[in-house]
Amino acid sequence: MNKKKIIITGGAGFIGSHVIRRFVNQYPDYQIVNLDALTYAGNLENLEDVESKENYKFIKADIRDAELIESIFETEQPDAVIHLAAESHVDRSIKDPLAFVQTNVIGTVNLLNAAKKTWKSDYSKYRFYHVSTDEVYGALGETGFFTEETAYNPHSPYSASKASSDHFVRAYHDTYGMDTVVSNCSNNYGANHFPEKLIPLSINNIKNNKSIPIYGKGLNVRDWLWVEDHARAIDVIFHNAKTGTTYNIGGHNEWTNIDLIKLLCKIMDKKLDREPGTSEKLITYVEDRAGHDLRYAIDPNKLQNELGWKPSLQFEEGLEKTVDWYLANEKWLNNVTSGNYQQYYELQYKDK
Ligand code: NAD
Ligand code: TYD
Repeated sequence: MNKKKIIITGGAGFIGSHVIRRFVNQYPDYQIVNLDALTYAGNLENLEDVESKENYKFIKADIRDAELIESIFETEQPDAVIHLAAESHVDRSIKDPLAFVQTNVIGTVNLLNAAKKTWKSDYSKYRFYHVSTDEVYGALGETGFFTEETAYNPHSPYSASKASSDHFVRAYHDTYGMDTVVSNCSNNYGANHFPEKLIPLSINNIKNNKSIPIYGKGLNVRDWLWVEDHARAIDVIFHNAKTGTTYNIGGHNEWTNIDLIKLLCKIMDKKLDREPGTSEKLITYVEDRAGHDLRYAIDPNKLQNELGWKPSLQFEEGLEKTVDWYLANEKWLNNVTSGNYQQYYELQYKDK
């Protein structure tokens, strides 16, 4: 194939920005198109270091707008789509489920339809890769792992919307023969994570001597993966997976929320030169999340055995790197918490 043109949706968000950076830098012969609506979670400052590269382009567009998406596909003629754009926060989904249906379900079907129309059923040269979550599998008890065969059993409006979009992507493979791939990943952490999610919210609060809200008893378990390891897994799967397949992505790194936060507090005390134990005093137990899934844990054997991917970082090292990034990037954090980041597009892009 000639130069590959890939539309990556949601590239201004947390994971999307790491995927864009990886593809732009690793594959100078590809044309990378970042398609993002710049919602509250989209921040082009995440991509300052790649925005002047020749093989990168940004298009502001909302995947809920079927006509607009179709016309962009018609003009761009992409060879592939890597779809990450989504409403991604469980707490927001509990307050406004419909927003999650509109972007995560209808937005995904709009992209599938635009791809189908542009690729004219000749799928041998094209690929639609959907980036999804392990939350579609529901919650585990104290033992066991999610495999690719685990039945879907989503509980939150967020996971229900992602489960639905996964099914639509597979339906386009089974019904129309589209070359599709789905991956389901565990919780990510790292640089550029929006400070509404547990780790960046806690780093920001500790830094500002504000309380750290722990839902319920803090005993829920999440399986944490460094975001750059997720971006590398997406690269490996995109290039090597057979059509119609699914891969789970995770690194056997389970933590209860309270143990994770205690580790984070120790790291923050050290980095901020505070007396040991200072940050832990900020821990505050608050009302539990409605329908709070007890435990997520991925069995990553298929990805490791078939495609040779392994996580590269131990969690303690990754968490320290993440704290270092937030402390070194005060401007990014201030712009996000003040809302200033939303002016970046107007200032840097609009009239160019
Ligand atoms: P994020 O909230 O940080 O970013 C989402 C991006 O999508 C933003 O740039 C936003 O502007 C864009 N977007 C939202 N609605 C849009 C719309 N209607 N049209 C176009 N763009 C829109 O999310 P994230 O944490 O980076 O997650 C990215 C993807 O990875 C999501 O599909 C999510 O379900 C999945 N995922 C996330 C995690 C995690 O731990 N964060 C784990 C597994 C899978
Ligand atoms: P979150 O980062 O929102 O990711 P997800 O819900 O997709 O797993 O939450 C991670 C865990 O931390 C989850 O069990 C909920 C919990 N949590 C808190 O205890 N306090 C908080 O302020 C937040 C945002 C989450």
